[in-house]
Amino acid sequence: MTRITVSVDGVSCTDEVEPRMLLVHYLRETVGKVGTVIGCDTSNCGACTVHLDGRSVKSCNMLAVQADGHEVTTIEGLAKDGRLHPMQEAFHENHALQCGYCTPGMIMQAIDLVGQNPSPTEDEIRHGMEGNLCRCTGYHNIVKAVAAAAGAMSSERSDS
Ligand code: FES
Ligand code: FES
Repeated sequence: MTRITVSVDGVSCTDEVEPRMLLVHYLRETVGKVGTVIGCDTSNCGACTVHLDGRSVKSCNMLAVQADGHEVTTIEGLAKDGRLHPMQEAFHENHALQCGYCTPGMIMQAIDLVGQNPSPTEDEIRHGMEGNLCRCTGYHNIVKAVAAAAGAMSSERSDS
């Protein structure tokens, strides 16, 4: 077993883990962050996407020990002071989910995308989200939601 300390949604967690444990299993089973879900376990679907030090990663594609000393943000860490993140709001407002299984990963990926490119075109959104699959195939509204959130996030920045 290996001792790791990871900041998860702003809380420092120190745990003994098997060196082969995947980050997604650590988040769900040890830390209890079940909002991060597993769709494939083979880095294809993006359902398990979280942020590591502010950038999106597929948490089934790395080991928990690789997150030692780093900051992980999950879908459960996005809302602040009872307010949803603008990306969460936009998914809600634009009906960008059906069963919702892909949604946590979609939102985490979309936030990273907009962080890198604050005014993405539709093509750039589709390209930036291509590692995240939706089995309900609601892609049109997902793209609309990401564009709407990008607008909302840029007006928030200009207001502050
Ligand atoms: S569960 Fe990680 S990419 Fe599918
Ligand atoms: S909303 Fe069902 S998988 Fe995307």
